[in-house]
Amino acid sequence: MRIIETASYEEMSRLAAGIIGGQILLKPDCVLGLATGSSPIGTYERLVADCASGLLDFSRVRTVNLDEYCGLGAEHPQSYRYFMDSHLFDRVNIPKENTHLPDGIAEDPEAECRRYEALIDSLGGVDLQLLGVGHNGHIGFNEPQGDFPRYVHPVNLTESTIKANSRLFDRVEDVPTRAITMGIGTILKAERILLIAGADKRDILHRALYGEITPEVPASVLQLHRDVTVILVKG
Ligand code: F6R
Repeated sequence: MRIIETASYEEMSRLAAGIIGGQILLKPDCVLGLATGSSPIGTYERLVADCASGLLDFSRVRTVNLDEYCGLGAEHPQSYRYFMDSHLFDRVNIPKENTHLPDGIAEDPEAECRRYEALIDSLGGVDLQLLGVGHNGHIGFNEPQGDFPRYVHPVNLTESTIKANSRLFDRVEDVPTRAITMGIGTILKAERILLIAGADKRDILHRALYGEITPEVPASVLQLHRDVTVILVKG
């Protein structure tokens, strides 16, 4: 595991975009696992700029996102599909059909989870998975619990996650209470993992990276992966 500390969010974003850009240059048809949230916005800005300047070509890149809220369609401004379109996909030359998220309005969420896990496998697996981390140690929407979920699955969000995510909704009651997420097993199948985190995540990251490996701190499972890079903003 490599742990890099940066002086600012901008520097973290520049380094993360450099690693993702390097992956695209090395393998133009790579599969990127992507995340939403505040942490990757600066990284996506840099990738957009590198595409606009001609440095990066997304025309053969495929993407799979970690998660999506249940009940929100693609046109809902708080859906993760909307987030990804507006921050990245609509601003680089990636064919929209190469971009994948779980379908939050699928009639049968269990079937949707099976479809999504199979889709990731059919793409050949993830070359580089970008992650953020929750204050409770969640990765994707894998919340602290009794075991490490292996596959894509539906989850009930914890109160702390609903509260944290309510900043983007008008009212806390509007935050969906369920989501579909890659499982811990799905995430660990990625060839390489890149986790980015602001200074506010320092304490939970310390527990995750140096403490006991336990489903109570889902990110602690990353200690078991062979190729993890963590970029953390210094406090
Ligand atoms: C987002 C996701 C979440 C976030 C985490 C950190 O797709 O799966 O695990 O990465 O909640 O969110 P931010 O970056 O907003 O602090």
